[in-house]
Amino acid sequence: MLLNASKSLVNSTSTRFDLKTSQLAIALYFLLFAFPAAFSQATPSDSTLTSNPAFINHCAKCHGKNAEGRRFRGPSLISGKVSATSDDELRNIISNGKVHMPKYKNKLTSDEIDSLVQQIKAVNKK
Ligand code: HEC
Repeated sequence: MLLNASKSLVNSTSTRFDLKTSQLAIALYFLLFAFPAAFSQATPSDSTLTSNPAFINHCAKCHGKNAEGRRFRGPSLISGKVSATSDDELRNIISNGKVHMPKYKNKLTSDEIDSLVQQIKAVNKK
């Protein structure tokens, strides 16, 4: 009777141990694989609008490589109008488009759109 009880105690501690190791393995997996992937995708916060790959690939063709406007009726992004536009409104224009401005909510992540908003703001403060 006593022997059985201690046996089942050993059994239950060893299952608990297994559970802990597998939880540790899952945690390690996330640390090693999931996090570096997330970091490498994020836009470095110190990059400027015109060096941001999202801007170069998606926006420069209309707003110009230097963001000062170019073709397809793309206005300069460095203007009194843009600097007077709130972050929310800029995010809304980029996400949902506006007249001839295409929408980007399906093409860019919300993090990428947020970086663009911050960088547009930054370029207007100079
Ligand atoms: C096909 C050309 C085109 C592309 C590509 C484009 N835009 Fe535009 N964008 C426009 C036009 C045209 C307007 C003016 C909309 C209007 O009629 O008010 C505009 C307006 C804007 C405005 C508001 C400016 C203002 O003066 O009100 C912002 C901010 C903006 N675009 C950001 C972006 C960003 C960021 C990207 C890339 C993710 C981008 N645009 C890509 C054509 C484009």
